[in-house]
Amino acid sequence: MRTILIVGNWKMNKTASEAAAFVREVTPRLSVSPAVDYVVAPPFTALESVRAALGSSSPLQLGAQNMFWEDRGAYTGEISAPMLKELGCRYVILGHSERRALFGEQNDGIQKKLRAALAHDLKPILCIGESFAQREDGKTEEVLQQQLHGALAGLSLHSVTALTVAYEPVWAIGTGKAATTDQAVAAHRTIRAFLAKMWSANVADTTRILYGGSVTPQNIGALLQSDQIDGALIGGACLQADSFVTITTIAQSIGARP
Ligand code: 13P
Repeated sequence: MRTILIVGNWKMNKTASEAAAFVREVTPRLSVSPAVDYVVAPPFTALESVRAALGSSSPLQLGAQNMFWEDRGAYTGEISAPMLKELGCRYVILGHSERRALFGEQNDGIQKKLRAALAHDLKPILCIGESFAQREDGKTEEVLQQQLHGALAGLSLHSVTALTVAYEPVWAIGTGKAATTDQAVAAHRTIRAFLAKMWSANVADTTRILYGGSVTPQNIGALLQSDQIDGALIGGACLQADSFVTITTIAQSIGARP
């Protein structure tokens, strides 16, 4: 069984006090169920205030948007896995297309980050996805397989169980043009087939695969109708309390995957 996972990636939005106010507002309004996990990924500067605002009983778990692979040292501007752990992070988003496109991240570095996250018991959410041009050229499957191979090659069967994959087509991010459920399902099947080939049918069956890219309260229900789609990685629609709460209500009404 795969529990649905809804992740709010806040990107570079909300100061520490704005972030704390947001979680204080939404926490009592969330639809809670053992069939759905909720994660918020604020900027690094808001992790501490969000953790304090969540307290010990909130259904929201904490995630980070990135990290570096070394534990400590002369790496100006970077943040390590032990630092995130101490702040209460359980998840970390890695390889987001904005990091690949704007900050030059490549598969080999993403793989090092992924291994470091796993070594410190952080659950990585690996983002992959094709550009519009790659889709037009019929290269979607090839791109997804390359990104998966680049980030995951050589990972042990044991460590891969903590992995979540997020399929985020670049053309759908922040554009208001979400993938159709059929497009997302096709990509998720490619990802699952890769996991089955690289590890096992069991890994393919148990790994959560999220969809991301212009997810809203209006389209989340249709996306989650397919049991191939185990949740969503959401940017803009998670920044407003009302839309975030509505998304959690819809996810909760759908429940876990068989
Ligand atoms: P939007 O939901 O704003 O399209 O962002 C998606 C995303 O990049 C989440 O990581």
